[in-house]
Amino acid sequence: MKTIRITIVAMLLFVFLFSQIVQSFSSATSNNGKGNTPLQQEIPDGFPMPHYKFEQNKLTQEGFDLGRKLFYDGRLSKDGNFSCGSCHQQFAAFSTYDHSFSHGFNNSSTQRNAIALFNLAWQKEFHHDGGINHLEVQPLAPLTSPNEMAETMNTIIQKLKKEKDYRKMFKSSFGDEKITGQRILKALAQFTGSIVSADSKYDRMKKGIATFTPYEERGYLLYKTNCASCHPEPLFTDLSYRNIGLSLDTFLNDFGRMKITGKSEDSLKFKVPSLRNIAVSAPFMHDGRYQSIKACVEHYGNKINKSTTLDSLLQNGIRFNRAQTVDLIAFLRTLTDSTLLKSYRFSDPENKSFNNIDKH
Ligand code: HEC
Ligand code: HEC
Repeated sequence: MKTIRITIVAMLLFVFLFSQIVQSFSSATSNNGKGNTPLQQEIPDGFPMPHYKFEQNKLTQEGFDLGRKLFYDGRLSKDGNFSCGSCHQQFAAFSTYDHSFSHGFNNSSTQRNAIALFNLAWQKEFHHDGGINHLEVQPLAPLTSPNEMAETMNTIIQKLKKEKDYRKMFKSSFGDEKITGQRILKALAQFTGSIVSADSKYDRMKKGIATFTPYEERGYLLYKTNCASCHPEPLFTDLSYRNIGLSLDTFLNDFGRMKITGKSEDSLKFKVPSLRNIAVSAPFMHDGRYQSIKACVEHYGNKINKSTTLDSLLQNGIRFNRAQTVDLIAFLRTLTDSTLLKSYRFSDPENKSFNNIDKH
């Protein structure tokens, strides 16, 4: 009898403690999305499972809308001029149009080419050297970097707190009006993590609703034999770090991945970028040294600089004759996702002149 009573007391105690733990856990995660309108993460047919699944950051319409507003808000930068969207322009697949380096605070510029933003949920690591390993942490780099937005999180929070609109949006996204750094980062990740590119001519060809021209078809075969080992379908990147023999710019002295790992075998290796949307995201490579797709293709033929870490696949270069170059480029142009480039959902919510758009 006594043991039963003790067991019951122990069980009650356990239930009580457990409920306390659950409660403290749920209040600790009150930064998780609390919006009322859940959104389903988009996973296109044929794509692998994403790495970032919004598990600790419930994707909701409210959180997405807040992230979208933050992404396009210059007030997140010190002088009010540099929103995320100022360097990551939608029509250029969220890269910086026509600039090797992007303009940032105080007339300075970035040291690397702004990366096009899409399919980020499939990536484990970010930046050309993979120096950042979480989508929700990534924005801290541009927000605080002196040559980008040059702001501190505290000042951003103070600025946003003054805005009634923001207080309302934080409430509808997270349950109360509190504005914290973590919530800002989570909301931004709801926006950036939702940018999916999977509606190009190539994708429609795969679904059987578009047909390649003979050029594109021949280019696709050339791509499969020569480029797919590093830029494989459907993401068109294997997300590894490789040295493709770009000569070192002795002014920038950028050794890429080695800066992060400290290992000499990573010298001059950079993250393999996706080939999706390259027709609109020039210039190319980590330092924006090539202005055209043709220059990139020619690089693999005759500009490869030999060094100990040069990728084994590129020891002899990859050469194409003129007709093959035309075919290959025709194929690469099928990877442009005009739906994304024109999507109202991902556009600047303040931009009233954004017409020729499909409102979805
Ligand atoms: C001044 C220009 C500039 C601004 C402003 C800027 N970025 Fe960037 N962004 C860059 C550059 C340059 C890189 C590449 C950095 C590197 O590799 O070291 C980059 C890289 C990224 C990446 C990594 C993509 C990948 O595939 O690895 C993400 C994500 C990103 N930016 C999001 C943002 C967000 C969110 C903001 C606003 C909080 C922002 N950026 C503001 C220039 C900018
Ligand atoms: C050994 C792996 C490898 C192979 C093979 C390869 N690439 Fe690349 N590619 C890379 C890496 C790594 C980069 C980025 C280098 C940098 O940023 O400095 C890159 C960059 C590019 C870029 C620039 C994209 C951008 O957004 O800056 C283009 C275009 C490109 N490759 C096309 C091709 C084509 C076409 C082929 C086939 C002929 C090919 N690549 C074969 C690894 C490879």
